[in-house]
Amino acid sequence: MAEDLHIIQGDKKTQYETLIPQIQGLLTGESNLVANLANVAAALKEQFNWFWVGFYWVIENELVLGPFQGPVACTRIKKGRGVCGTSWEKEQTIIVEDVEKFPGHIACSSLSKSEIVVPLFHQGKVVGVLDVDSSELAQFDAIDQLYLEKIVGFIPVS
Ligand code: SME
Repeated sequence: MAEDLHIIQGDKKTQYETLIPQIQGLLTGESNLVANLANVAAALKEQFNWFWVGFYWVIENELVLGPFQGPVACTRIKKGRGVCGTSWEKEQTIIVEDVEKFPGHIACSSLSKSEIVVPLFHQGKVVGVLDVDSSELAQFDAIDQLYLEKIVGFIPVS
């Protein structure tokens, strides 16, 4: 597909619905994991302009920073630590309306106010997480969960 993303205004659902086929286009025919994670992070950042969008990958029982868009971030997170490590441990998406109220939240930046973390699975095990941070409180809800879970499900992780 063309490398230019078609960015639209509108409600969140419409933005996701327009973005999804473009993300599928970006992933089609490419099997390299880093390339795909990089393009998905970039596409989400470009459409939604969130503060930070990126991936952490499970490597030797730690989450290690992967492709991302946004300010520099902490590189390693242990299982059960922070929002990312909790999502990995619980094997579920976690939505945090106010990061200051999440016990153990890892503050890579004081500008991050709310967060959603979505795990990626391969053969039933968490292999990485998508982490999205907003500089606004309570930016993520069940709509984001639904669509971000769909989007990470398109990424071939074998
Ligand atoms: N806040 C995350 C750490 C990663 S940064 O937000 C990029 C956490 O608590 O797991």
